[in-house]
Parts: sequence; structure tokens; C-alpha cells
Amino acid sequence: PAPGWAIDADVVVVGSGVAGLTVALRCAAAGAKVTVVTKARLDDGSTRWAQGGIAAALGEGDTPAQHLDDTLVAGAGLCDEEAVRNLVTEGPDAVRRLIATGARFDTAPDTGEILLTREGGHHRRRIAHAGGDATGAEISRALVDAVRDAGIETIENALVLDLITDAAGRTAGVTLHVMGEGQRDGVGAVRARAVVLATGGMGQVFSATTNPAVSTGDGVALALRAGAEVSDLEFVQFHPTVLWLGPDAEGQQPLVSEAVRGEGAYLVDADGVRFMQGQHELAELAPRDIVAKAIMRRMREQGAEHMYLDGRHFGAEMWAHRFPTILAACRAHGIDPVTGTIPVAPAAHYASGGVRTDPRGHTTVPGLYACGEVACTGVHGANRLASNSLLEGLVFAERIAADIVARPAGPGAPVIPVPSRFPLLAPEARYEIQRVMTAGAGVLRSADSLDRAAAALRRIQHTAADDLERDGKTAEPCVETWEATNLLTVARVLVEAARRREETRGCHWREDRPDRDDAIWRRHLVVRLTPERT
Ligand code: SIN
Repeated sequence: PAPGWAIDADVVVVGSGVAGLTVALRCAAAGAKVTVVTKARLDDGSTRWAQGGIAAALGEGDTPAQHLDDTLVAGAGLCDEEAVRNLVTEGPDAVRRLIATGARFDTAPDTGEILLTREGGHHRRRIAHAGGDATGAEISRALVDAVRDAGIETIENALVLDLITDAAGRTAGVTLHVMGEGQRDGVGAVRARAVVLATGGMGQVFSATTNPAVSTGDGVALALRAGAEVSDLEFVQFHPTVLWLGPDAEGQQPLVSEAVRGEGAYLVDADGVRFMQGQHELAELAPRDIVAKAIMRRMREQGAEHMYLDGRHFGAEMWAHRFPTILAACRAHGIDPVTGTIPVAPAAHYASGGVRTDPRGHTTVPGLYACGEVACTGVHGANRLASNSLLEGLVFAERIAADIVARPAGPGAPVIPVPSRFPLLAPEARYEIQRVMTAGAGVLRSADSLDRAAAALRRIQHTAADDLERDGKTAEPCVETWEATNLLTVARVLVEAARRREETRGCHWREDRPDRDDAIWRRHLVVRLTPERT
């Protein structure tokens, strides 16, 4: 649809988590006119849900080099070492600037030093946290307050549709579908010389995920429609310890942070026996993919639907003080971690891949940047190290802001609306896509399961396309239809990448190809859709 209104900015930031708001603040501080657009409310994205914390070499004796080593090991041979080096060396100062922006981390009462915990894959205590296990909520609060204080323009309830480009193919803004925001209602456009995608992840492509309902892969889908390259989509990280709420639980599920294991809780099977010892030198604190696989294996051996996390030895005071969010979530579901074990199972958590960027956050479309979970900067490789995601959002946001403000403002580019080439899906298609993906492309994958998923996704696409061709009808454009359509776009590319990667590496686990194959597969799968294929 053609935009009914348009506004101008130097930079439009799409998304309002740690990545988006940090880009916005740093660009605005340098004098750029910034507009932040976000699909729901400013604090509705994944950042707010982050529990464990933010990793950085802040502790005594810790160094960026050690953080680099742990990140590379977790990434299973596919990290871009230069990108990781940027992350870990710039990380500590980026965290200090976040604190200067207003975020309050937990500190030791006597010394005022930042308290640090451990999580999977880290050989040191290097995870800063806030409110015990409410780190993301505190970061989000601080950044939203700072954005409001800085008077940065924000448009909420604004679903991004497509990239606007000028005649030379350079980014010139975005089109949006805005619901219920007064003068900015309906389809409109923000014209800007730089567009920063910071739309978060795509966990909602699976039935059970730790991601909020808004994580529907909108940024990756937009980038694909705009002809940008995406990479590593097959590497979906399944968090090992998500509160198990029954076999039919769907949508966002409560996370039980790795920090719980970092503070000494351990995993036990259906017989109450520990099973991580002897599997890896770090036992329960092995990298996330290893723990998730061990849980799945033991579940299968025992015919169990979940395993258990045992933190009873923490006692009531520690649970209440250190893990108040998790304690409340467990109790809300009738589970008391002070007196009993917590049922847990893996669920979709994080997209290690995304829109491919260089070290300054440029995508392959001029003027289009990507930052945070939507991006594939190369720091995560085949499996993100715990608590590196908030850090990535911060560090690369600062890099992107520096790049944008260093570029001279060009003349206003003519707006050429890009008409959608997609038949829109009905909102209910979301649930069908989730079921297909969970059955065929979940923690355990094989050629057969992926083939079945690909065929089912094709059927969903063809049904919508046939309807459009037969009677010119497509689902009414609204947030739900766009979300379902975006989910299908990213699901199809994800499944295709997972089919092609005929090995097991990091969080991509092929039952029919159980070994890592460095001779063929120590490389990235990069995808770019041509117009005919969208
Ligand atoms: C957690 O708290 O376990 C999640 C941390 C992360 O995903 O990095």
C-alpha cells in the first residue's frame, strides 16, 4: 500500500531493545535527528526478558583475551575472530557507558564493585546482573528513560513493512503500518538516509520459546525482501533450562537462567541422578548446545518429557534475593524451587544468525544497518556464548552510531515505495508454521524431518499465493497477517539452510549427520532472495 503520511529523519531505528535504543541515543547525542519505531511499546521486546546478564571482562584477573577464547570455543569454528575481538575488547567500556546512561547493576554493598556470576561456557565469573535475575528489565528501563529524556521521537505500535530505496538502490527509509497512534495512524513512511534494523529475533517461529510474542523475524524478512544477505539462520539456539509447563505449552515460556546453574544448581534426571558430570569439563556449565543435547539424550533414554534443575540447597533467602523473577515464575505455576526441583526442557531461545553485517554494522544494502539479534555480525558463530547478546547489542550499536554520524548527510532521496510482493497469510497460519517448525526443525533435525517441514511450508505459501491469483484476495493487512507472513519467510530460509548443512555443529543438530565436518562445512551459508524467489 502507498504511504498515507511521511516524516523525515536522518536515521530511523527499527526496534527498541538494547541495540536500537543505544544506536538512537548515540546518534542523537552526536546531533542526528533520530526516529525510533517499534512494533509494540518501547519496552516490549526481548531485552526486557533477559535474566542472566551481560558478559564482559570486568572482574579482577579476567581479560578480553579469555573472553575471546570462551566465545570462540562456544561458536564451534564459525565465529569471525575479528568481530569477537571487537566485542570483547570494547565490551567493558560499553558496559561502563551503559552504567553512565543510568543502568544500575548489582554491586557488593561493602566495596561497590559490580557483582559477577558465571554461565555456560565461561571459565570465569564475568556476567554482570541487575535486580538479581532481571538484568534486561533494568537495562530496558534505563535506556527507555534516557531516550525519553533526550527527546528522541518514538513511534510505537508501528510494524515495519518494507525498505524504501532511491533510484540508485540506496536506502531512503522504511514504510510502516501504524495502529492507533493518532496522526501517524495507518500506512506511512519515515524517510531517512540510514535505517538501522534492531528488530530482535524470531523465536516465535517455534511453538515453545523464551521469546516474547513480538519476536517474529520481521527484520530478517524485511532484509530478505530488500535483497540483503542473511547468514547462519540454521543456528537456532535452544536454551537448555526453560520451565516445562506441559507437552502442549505454546508461545513464550518462562526462562530459568543459566545463572542458576552458575550459582551451583545442578541438573538431575527422572531418577534424581546428575548426568552432566563426565560429559564435559564444565559439567552443568558446558556451552549451551552441549547441555541442551545432553538433556535431550537423557529425556529420550528415559522416555521423559523433561529433566529437573535442583537448587534446593540455595535456601529461601538466596532464591528470593538472587532469583526473584524465576522464583515468582515457578511459584505462579505451582512449583517451589526452595523445596522442590524445577522441571525444565530446552526451548527456542536465540537466533545466532541473521542479517549479515560487516564490523560497522553495514548490511549488503547501502544505508541499511543491522544490530542485535537480527544481525549476523560473526560474533556468535554456530552457537552464542551465554550473555554475549546484550553485549553485542551495545558494542555494535556504538559502532553503527559512529559510522552513521561520520557520514555526510546526502540530499533528500526520492521516495519509491516498494510494493509488497507477498501474498499475506491469515493470522492462524502462525500456529501451523510453529507446529511444522517444532516437529521438523527443532532441537533434533534430520534430512527427513527437514524435508517434511519444507514441503509443509511450501504448501502454506502456495495456498496463500493461489488464493491471491484465483480471486485477487489476500488476508487483510494488519500486524497479525504481516507477522505470519514474516514467520513463513524466515522459516523457509531457516529450513533450507538446515537441510543444506549436512553435519552437526554448535546448535545445529542433525541426527542423520552426527559429526562435525570441518573439511566441508567450516563455512557460512549465506542467502539472498531474488525477487522471483520472494
Ligand atoms: C540466561 O539467563 O540463561 C540467558 C542468558 C543468555 O541467553 O545469554
